[in-house]
Amino acid sequence: MTKLNILLLGSGGRESALAWKISQSPRTGKFYIAPGNGGTERYGVNVELSPLDFDGIGRFVADNSIDMIVVGNEDPLVAGIYDHFADSPVLVVGPSKAGAALEGSKDFAKHFMERHAIPTARYRSFTAATLADGKAFLETLRPPYVLKADGLAAGKGVLIINDLDEAKASLEEMLSGMFGASSATVVIEEFLSGIECSVFVLTDGNGSYRILPVAKDYKRIGEGDTGLNTGGMGAVSPVPFADKEFMDKVERRIIRPTVEGLKAEGIVYRGFIFLGLINVGGEPMVIEYNVRMGDPETEVVMPRLASDLVDLLEAAARGDLGDTPADHDPRTAVTVMAVSGGYPGSYAKGLPVTGNLDPGQSILFHAGTTRDADGRLVTAGGRVIAATSYGAGIADALAKSYAALEDLAFAGKYLRRDIGRDLMNL
Ligand code: AMP
Ligand code: GLY
Repeated sequence: MTKLNILLLGSGGRESALAWKISQSPRTGKFYIAPGNGGTERYGVNVELSPLDFDGIGRFVADNSIDMIVVGNEDPLVAGIYDHFADSPVLVVGPSKAGAALEGSKDFAKHFMERHAIPTARYRSFTAATLADGKAFLETLRPPYVLKADGLAAGKGVLIINDLDEAKASLEEMLSGMFGASSATVVIEEFLSGIECSVFVLTDGNGSYRILPVAKDYKRIGEGDTGLNTGGMGAVSPVPFADKEFMDKVERRIIRPTVEGLKAEGIVYRGFIFLGLINVGGEPMVIEYNVRMGDPETEVVMPRLASDLVDLLEAAARGDLGDTPADHDPRTAVTVMAVSGGYPGSYAKGLPVTGNLDPGQSILFHAGTTRDADGRLVTAGGRVIAATSYGAGIADALAKSYAALEDLAFAGKYLRRDIGRDLMNL
């Protein structure tokens, strides 16, 4: 068995979950996380390197005989990290820059779906030069109106507006730089009504893929899905409505045309595809593509992946998944995120995190934590630590995660008490 030296890029809860899984593989040799957080040091060695510093990463790869780079967040992918290392022997798990446009440009993603007849909301794209056409198009739609900045906008680029005049005004503002260059093009699309879920696929770019466990995340800060959007307050896997019939449709109508479309268009893509789906009366439609794993979905997807992740990542990055298995653990997994008081607005950092940091019944995935000068664990971000637990069902798993977070203390700790509740009575 050959071991691989691995460098994982990123610093959030998602990377903690990837690191946890990578560290369990007998295939993992030396393992580094750049920059990592106060929890990832348990799984490997944290390295002070920015995921966007490709030259620095190149030097680190050479100096430490890294065999494979695993990219956690989208920014390096959209910036072209795959292409940067294309002529080097190091494997990179992820899409080329052209493939990363599935997330980096909503206009590109919508056109791609149109070319491959993949079900998604009807849309049109506008720029400052076609503002008047955009306003006229809004008049043909029924509210609410969905306006999306074309480019990356740190999860903030989507506006859903009930009033027509307000939508026209927002279109004008977006096109005149509300989200900087990201909203120089705006996609306006039909509003879809339904319940969302996240489907993750690992593809080798040659037509083969594996479907990972399906998850549902909880994005809003407030219970009952109210208040501002966050980076994610919790997640559940599996998702009861994503049953065999639904997933057969997803595979036939969305996954296969996506994987085959990328190949047919000559777009190099050896990594994760994240399908943000909505269930419209039993019919899956694509809300968005992302080119990475989800956060906090990864904190339940990795625990439910029963097969070796390093085997899968290496096979995908080499372009031949072959018969590498991706078995699913039948148990339910839930994760609940403990966040800083005030998040997603302003919040304090550097607050000591104390309590039981090693609960037996749950896995703590650190997100916004770090070590202070004295080596104490302190908060370093809005989302601080996620507690993931297994159970026979959602309620059972949740009880363990809530108990684990109860035993954890930092000033201002907040968490949502209703994670998964909408799925329990379906
Ligand atoms: P996105 O950044 O594309 O994920 O959009 C953010 C959120 O806006 C999604 O998770 C959905 O909840 C919502 N959304 C986006 N597009 C639509 C749509 N066409 N219809 C209804 N909701 C949408
Ligand atoms: N949980 C949604 C995302 O990672 O974009």
